[in-house]
Amino acid sequence: MGSNILITGAAGYISKEQAKALSTLGINVLQLDLTDEKAVVQSLLRYNINIVIHCASSINADLALNLITALGKQREASREQTFFIHTSGLSAFYEKTGWPQRETKDTGPVFDLEKQLADSFPIRKTDVAVIEHAKAKGVTSFIVIPSTVYGKGSGEWNKLSVVLPVYIQACISQRAVSKFPENTKVSGVHISDLTALYGRIIQKILQKEPLPSGTEGYYFALAHNLIWWEVLDQLAATLKARGLVTTSDTSIWSDDEAAAEAMGIPIQFVQPLWNSGENIVRKKPDMIGWEPAWDKDDFLGSIDDEIQAVLELSKAKSSLIDSLFESAKG
Ligand SMILES: NC(=O)c1ccc[n+]([C@@H]2O[C@H](COP(=O)([O-])OP(=O)(O)OC[C@H]3O[C@@H](n4cnc5c(N)ncnc54)[C@H](OP(=O)(O)O)[C@@H]3O)[C@@H](O)[C@H]2O)c1
Repeated sequence: MGSNILITGAAGYISKEQAKALSTLGINVLQLDLTDEKAVVQSLLRYNINIVIHCASSINADLALNLITALGKQREASREQTFFIHTSGLSAFYEKTGWPQRETKDTGPVFDLEKQLADSFPIRKTDVAVIEHAKAKGVTSFIVIPSTVYGKGSGEWNKLSVVLPVYIQACISQRAVSKFPENTKVSGVHISDLTALYGRIIQKILQKEPLPSGTEGYYFALAHNLIWWEVLDQLAATLKARGLVTTSDTSIWSDDEAAAEAMGIPIQFVQPLWNSGENIVRKKPDMIGWEPAWDKDDFLGSIDDEIQAVLELSKAKSSLIDSLFESAKG
């Protein structure tokens, strides 16, 4: 049997406009409420979907679980293996969300620890639910954990990343660049390298090559490190050169509340969004031949392009931020 791949989260809640744009790429667009289990099962069976790349939410487990249930039914109907690739977040492995402060490799016992600590952070809880539900339904699962994603997408719809644009907009509206008091070392990945990693996983699946999955199926998508103060100093100089801030000097946020307010993010997610990723070691992507093209210097050299993308693509609209507010409510 050939493969049909469903990608969620590539273009939001699919409007006619989005559907039209995507159709020009030869992509079939499904209008599907991912919270409706029955509709999800019907659609996956109807279109013979055997692989799902899930990017719509790392927080709301229900969306992932419905898709996995549907892949389980597809496996029964087709008697062929089915695959679920979940997109998680590095904040699940950050000490301020309750993860132990020590080196974490994606080849280590990540699942066992995530399970122990699942209730204290929603992204961990979702990862564990995904792996366990996939196992119960006989679906092969993978967890891809991107670091800070940057760069302008090349697709037909939303081309702006989320994290850096939110920061850039806060700087522009404050006419100044502020930083957190601790100079953290995190990591980043250009969107084209991240999509290449999903591509490697899909290629291995299609070629029926062995691929670590389930409790062993964590893939840390870290292309290179980022030193935040270095990034923000560069951002301040570049924004000043464009006349978008009043000084190229940076200052320190007075507290997390000020940072949260300026960026429009719930306070409990401000540190996780920016400072997750220290002590995280990528191994698994290398084992399947992932070779990111962008390094730290490329990133620092592209800061002006990041600013330009924010100005061109106006306000960064992201349901990722909306989902943080939903989660913060309760
Ligand atoms: N950006 C990063 O740096 C980063 C880093 C690590 C992990 N992640 C994770 O990667 C995933 C994707 O992030 P992103 O940066 O691509 O965020 P994004 O730009 O907000 O994309 C998420 C997409 O999912 C769509 N969506 C959300 N809920 C949906 C639902 N119930 N039904 C249908 N579509 C839905 C959104 O629709 P709308 O367009 O209508 O909002 C949006 O197009 C998230 O799970 C995020 O936590 C992101």
